[in-house]
Amino acid sequence: MAKLIVHGGHRLEGAVRAGGRKNSAVAVIPAALLCDGPSSLENLPAIDDVGVYSQLLEALGARLQPRPERNGGLTLTIDPRGVRRTVADHDLGKRLRASYYLLGVLLARFGEAEVPLPGGCDIGLRPIDQHLKGLSALGAQVRIEHGAIRARATRLEGTTIYLDVISVGATIQLMLAATLAAGVTIIENAAREPHVVDLANFLNAAGARVQGAGTDVIKIRGVSRLSGATHAIIPDEIEAATYMIAAAATRGDVVVENVIPKHLDPVTAKLQEAGVTVEENGDYVRVRADRRPRAVHVKTLPYPGFPTDAQQPFTVLLSLAEGTSIVTETVWEGRFRHVEELKRMGTLIRVEGRTAIVEGVERLTGAAVRASDLRARAALMVAGLAAEGTTEISGIEHIDRGYERAVDKLRGLGARLVREGNGRGAREAAGH
Ligand code: EPU
Repeated sequence: MAKLIVHGGHRLEGAVRAGGRKNSAVAVIPAALLCDGPSSLENLPAIDDVGVYSQLLEALGARLQPRPERNGGLTLTIDPRGVRRTVADHDLGKRLRASYYLLGVLLARFGEAEVPLPGGCDIGLRPIDQHLKGLSALGAQVRIEHGAIRARATRLEGTTIYLDVISVGATIQLMLAATLAAGVTIIENAAREPHVVDLANFLNAAGARVQGAGTDVIKIRGVSRLSGATHAIIPDEIEAATYMIAAAATRGDVVVENVIPKHLDPVTAKLQEAGVTVEENGDYVRVRADRRPRAVHVKTLPYPGFPTDAQQPFTVLLSLAEGTSIVTETVWEGRFRHVEELKRMGTLIRVEGRTAIVEGVERLTGAAVRASDLRARAALMVAGLAAEGTTEISGIEHIDRGYERAVDKLRGLGARLVREGNGRGAREAAGH
């Protein structure tokens, strides 16, 4: 079984480069199938999720050509001209939550689609009712049967769709589907995440007419074809935030390069409130800390609120703070499951429903712990880096799914950690 062994208690120092944004990559890659010519996607993160999505596209008939970039990222050329199949490979699809974006894409392009019901990180209920409601409103017949979602439509027709909850996935799904629909689609109460904007930029570069991405009303005028485009994926703010938090937790001094500081504002503001020094400059941030942080209260919310994907690592930082912090998780009810593991390392955290009451302690101590999902693993890694002694993190088989070369990058900052066993085992089953 794969394990990450972290010898903690060393300040992180130096510079690290954030890769391309995972959750943008897994939306833009399928979007390339909406086009009738090749697209070239740059600054993709070199993570397993990109690899699995590439295989999914190849299984549908697309031709892909990956090229490593000098900075560690990936450029992928996607030629969709050979795509004939409309059924996504179930085994591959189940490994990646975002495989469900192929539903909107294949439906829009070919009038029918089948994707497996998505799995995903065990972070609570993950309904897809807003995806299905939106696709039906666009005129698709959608059924769930035999573990798959099947959709069919002669031609999608634009309409106004009000999302009952702010959903990144549903917003992206409906943008993808509406791009080639007849007439105008308006998505109200849309998610405003920067990766929604990134997807809109790709689509528009390929000839789509998407307006308002980044606000809560997105208007899509359907076009008859998309041509393909060259597009660079935006940086991953969660990866960057994880290194920023790790710097603060180890009282280090770290520059995180290749970021859009504005996207990090919710995390930067909380770090500063906790007494951590954060300087923003152009495309990097520098994070410095030389004492225990102060307790602060955090509530996760859709963008531009504090991101749920950074909550677990941030809770580790707060467990080292002076005073008591209250962390409220409003997006995923299962995102405190790692707290039991953190307790083995000496944290004093009490979870009551969607709230964690975090009493700061002076130090954490290394222990054997187990990660349950991608961000829980990141949190345990941060805890291990800050703790005295050795932490053994198991359940890290998907270490490479969402963080590009995490072990190498942390080593570059002076961390002492090593991976033991095969890091890409069968437990890669869950997507994010
Ligand atoms: N929701 C519904 N119905 C739906 C869709 C969502 O009720 O049809 C609810 C969810 O239960 C949740 C809330 O709406 O409470 C927000 O869910 P959203 O749809 O925004 O999440 P997602 O698209 O499934 C993406 C990321 C997650 C990230 C969330 C929130 C991808 C592949 N995943 O998930 O990323 O936490 O947005 O920002 O983009 C991660 O990277 O670790 C990760 C889990």
